[in-house]
Amino acid sequence: MEQQRVQKSVQETTEQEEIQHGPFPVEQLQVSHTHFFNGFGSGIAAVDVKKLKDAGLCTVEAVAYSPRKELLLIKGISEAKVDKIVEAASKLVPMGFTSAGQLHAQREEIILLTTGSKELDKVLEGGVETGSITEIYGEFRCGKTQLCHTLCVTCQLPLEQGGGEGKAMYIDAEGTFRPQRLLQIADRYGLNGADVLENVAYARAYNTDHQSRLLLEAASMMIETRFALVVVDSATALYRTDFSGRGELSARQMHLGKFLRSLQKLADEFGVAVVITNQVVSQVDGSAVFSGPQIKPIGGNIMAHASTTRLALRKGRAEERICKVISSPCLAEAEARFQITAEGVTDVKD
Ligand code: GTP
Ligand code: MG
Repeated sequence: MEQQRVQKSVQETTEQEEIQHGPFPVEQLQVSHTHFFNGFGSGIAAVDVKKLKDAGLCTVEAVAYSPRKELLLIKGISEAKVDKIVEAASKLVPMGFTSAGQLHAQREEIILLTTGSKELDKVLEGGVETGSITEIYGEFRCGKTQLCHTLCVTCQLPLEQGGGEGKAMYIDAEGTFRPQRLLQIADRYGLNGADVLENVAYARAYNTDHQSRLLLEAASMMIETRFALVVVDSATALYRTDFSGRGELSARQMHLGKFLRSLQKLADEFGVAVVITNQVVSQVDGSAVFSGPQIKPIGGNIMAHASTTRLALRKGRAEERICKVISSPCLAEAEARFQITAEGVTDVKD
């Protein structure tokens, strides 16, 4: 009889697990604790859950995606506990193989955020992808910040209007965020300006360490409410000033790599679209003689590999801008024209 009851509750929990979707708050690791006394399950003690949380791991996903080495660094968590935690996390978060068919079905459901320009959305096959990092680079005044502002509004739109039905988070390293621009863009979409502003969490980043720390806070906020977008404008500006010269290059790259990895983690855990902007430098080499000055994004290979989609912006005539898809796992290397207006990014009006 007892056996039967236990069997049933096992079935119930597996059924529950099938219906539930992440992200799971890290406290879920504790939940199986009640089953522990029934002779199965491996609940994690509340104090240990708190330690994970203090280390910035707010979701079961964050724990599951962390390398063992990182978990071992958390004070007060022994090797044996790490094993138990990893096991508990992997029960909730699927991490094994799946069929390509299933993956295809999941990808069909990925939400794309409209950029405000139909032509640009078209080359992006719908818009900016959630769940991955999109990097926008280009010279000054080419519209990176304006595109980010537009996305802060469109991510709040209903799904059928190309939105993500979520809030936006804006990490501003350059001090160029302007709420009044959001009001103008909100007007265009018929949204209430005050609500739109309320739905954008803003933080100014003052140095690279601070910029990284903000991501910890970001994770704890995303547990509470649905965010659809995280903007970092720009991701590299502070690195240029905090680290200088060749001597600090490897330290800089390592720090940047960690920061980008944390961003990727947010995208994986919460399914948010991560949009980062990047500055460029002119490349001085022999080829410049033939093809004019070449520009290249900063951050080197670390940056190139971290961003799933790379977009290059450049100036066209007057308010016109051109966006080129530089690298993407599935988009063609196409170009699109758009325009910067008082209402943010729009199609070019000929
Ligand atoms: P950096 O951050 O300096 O590298 O440049 P950026 O790529 O972020 O440029 P940004 O997005 O700030 O674009 C600036 C351009 O947008 C300028 O050419 C402005 O004239 C234009 N712009 C900004 N606000 C408005 C506006 O309200 N109306 C119009 N028509 N253009 C605007
Ligand atoms: Mg800018």
